[in-house]
Amino acid sequence: MINVAVLGYGTVGSGVVEVIEGNKALINKRVDDELNVKYILDLRDFPGDPYESKVVHDYNEILNDPEVNIICETMGGLKPAYDFTKNALLKGKSVCTSNKELVAEHGPELIKIAKENNCNYLFEASVGGGIPIIRPINSALTAEKIEGITGILNGTTNYILTKMEKEGSKFEDVLKEAQELGYAERNPEADIEGYDACRKIAILSSLMAGHTVDYKNVYTEGISKITADDFIYAKKLNRTIKLFGISREDNGKYFTMVSPFMLSKDHPMAMVNDVFNAIYVEGNMLGGSMYYGRGAGKLPTASAVVGDVVDAARHLGKEIKMFWDDEPVAMKEMDSVEFKYFVRTESSKHEDALRLFETVSVVDAGIDSEFAFITDKMTEKDFENKSSELGIISRIRIMD
Ligand code: HSE
Repeated sequence: MINVAVLGYGTVGSGVVEVIEGNKALINKRVDDELNVKYILDLRDFPGDPYESKVVHDYNEILNDPEVNIICETMGGLKPAYDFTKNALLKGKSVCTSNKELVAEHGPELIKIAKENNCNYLFEASVGGGIPIIRPINSALTAEKIEGITGILNGTTNYILTKMEKEGSKFEDVLKEAQELGYAERNPEADIEGYDACRKIAILSSLMAGHTVDYKNVYTEGISKITADDFIYAKKLNRTIKLFGISREDNGKYFTMVSPFMLSKDHPMAMVNDVFNAIYVEGNMLGGSMYYGRGAGKLPTASAVVGDVVDAARHLGKEIKMFWDDEPVAMKEMDSVEFKYFVRTESSKHEDALRLFETVSVVDAGIDSEFAFITDKMTEKDFENKSSELGIISRIRIMD
C-alpha cells in the first residue's frame, strides 16, 4: 500500500481525494499497488464529509508517520506550504503540488532537496490546470531545444475576456461567476493583474532554459484596463483580445512577458475560450506543438496532481529527472522589444498622431470622440516616447 496525505481540503485538495477515490481501480492498476489517502490536513473539521475521519490538524502527525510516502500540497501560498514541503522532502516523502507561487519562488531549491533525498517534487498542476505541459517538456520534448513558448495561462481572465467579447458582460459579474466556479485565486487580483500568469510563464521558461527565469523580472500587465470599447474596436478589426504569457530565447537572453494582446480571429489561440488554456511550444526540430485543455477548476487541476502522484508512486526511492537549477537567466530589456500597437486617442489629436507615428492604419469603429489606429512595428521605448508626447486613452499590443 502507498499512503498519501493531502494538505489543504479546499477546491483542489477535495478534488484530489475525489479523483483518487473515483478512479481507484484503474489508478491502482496503473500504479501496480494500492493508493490510500491516509490523512487530510486542514484547520477546519468537515462533519458529515465521507472522509472526515482522515482529517487531522497537526502536520507533524503526517511528517512523522513513516508510512506516508507521498504528499499532495494543495494549500497554495508560500507559508506554511514552503516549510511543509521542504520538511517532507527532507524526510524522503515526494510532494506533488498545484502551488505555482511556491514553485515559481522556490522550485530549483525544492527540486534539489528532493534529488538529495531520493524523492520527487512534481508540479504538473501548477501550470495550465489539467493540461499536461510540465511532463511533456521534461520527457516527450527532451530531444528539442525549446526556442519559444506562448500561452493563455490563466483560466479566470480567459473566462472574463470571452464573456466580455461574446456576451458584452460586465467585468465584475463575470469575475464573480469565475470565483463561484472555483477558477479564481483567493485574491483575484493575482488573476486580473496577470501575477498568476507571470508565475506560470516563469516556471515554463525556467524549464525551457534549465536555469531560473525569476518571475520578479517578468514584465507583467493584466486585463484590468481592457474595456467594452476595446472589444468594439477588436470586432471591427476581426480580432479578439487575450492575455498571453510569452517567452523567447534571443541570442542567449530571454525575453519573457505577460500582457493582453489583440490577435486575429483566425489565429489558433483566438479559438481558446472560457476557462480553457493553451500553450504553444516551439522546438528547433519538431517545430510547433500545442497543448490545450481546462486551465483551472477542481477536477481538472486535481487530475494533474493525481497524475503526479501516480508518477511518484511508480518512482518511490528513484529520481524523476528534471532540469531546473538556480542559476539566473539573463533577461532582455523590455525597451528594445518590438510590437505593433493598437492605439486610442481623442479625435482632436488626429493630426498629431499622424505626425508622430507617420505610417498608421486607421480604425473606424464608429466611436466619434476618438481617433484609433494601428502603428507600424516599433520598439517599446520608441512607442512610450511617442505615445506620452501624444497623450493616449489606451493601447493594446498586436499579435501577428
Ligand atoms: N486562478 C487560476 C486560473 C487557477 O484562473 O487560471 C489555475 O491556476
